[in-house]
Amino acid sequence: MRKISIAIDGYSSTGKSTLARQLAKSLGYIYIDSGAMYRAVTLFALREGLLNGQPNAERLVELLRGVELDFALNPDNGRSEIRLNGENVEKQIRTIEVSSHVSQVSAIAGVREKLVKLQREMGRNRGVVMDGRDIGTVVLPEAELKIFMTASPEIRAARRYKELLDRGEQVSYEEVLKNVRERDYLDSHREVSPLRQAEDAILFDNSDMGLEEQFERIHSHALRIIEKT
Ligand code: DC
Repeated sequence: MRKISIAIDGYSSTGKSTLARQLAKSLGYIYIDSGAMYRAVTLFALREGLLNGQPNAERLVELLRGVELDFALNPDNGRSEIRLNGENVEKQIRTIEVSSHVSQVSAIAGVREKLVKLQREMGRNRGVVMDGRDIGTVVLPEAELKIFMTASPEIRAARRYKELLDRGEQVSYEEVLKNVRERDYLDSHREVSPLRQAEDAILFDNSDMGLEEQFERIHSHALRIIEKT
């Protein structure tokens, strides 16, 4: 049986990564969290002081040439986690500070160019589940299965709020909802690779669906495609 590529795109906090991770595990595929890569670049830019006011795009793209991004298995939880120049930054990239700057950084053409190239290399052997905003449209347009996930902003904010509280972050629900709305707007209105559903993607609204049902549906769909391939 041939391995396929699975692209999962959609709005923020729709549960893309949970679904993608589960799918990869059950199929024995690798999982690539492309959002983590944009977040890691944002963390790098914040650390370099390049996001005070208007982002210094030119300098950031220049500095990125010397930056290494990869994923490595964390033996404590069995997950593949993002590394920035060899440092595991999985935790540091999930703060509200990074979340509020990441749309700005991901709108920079030179940043996207570098990350898309890396993502294509990571997916070149198939057997990959990649989630993000432009995976089905730009990064892996040849993917055999494309899912576009959506849910209401309030439901997504409630999910994200719970996640942040569980992680000990001090935020209000209103702040999280505002961030979700802003990112929806910025992600779908930017000039380069805006968030949009690929023509051949399946629209998947999980507002009223539990994790198990989501997984069952998409997993059985993936298996049908794999059998035919
Ligand atoms: O999936 P996430 O919320 O962790 O992604 C963080 C941000 O990165 C998101 O607001 C938009 C950007 N992003 C992107 O532009 N393209 C991708 N393929 C993945 C993420």
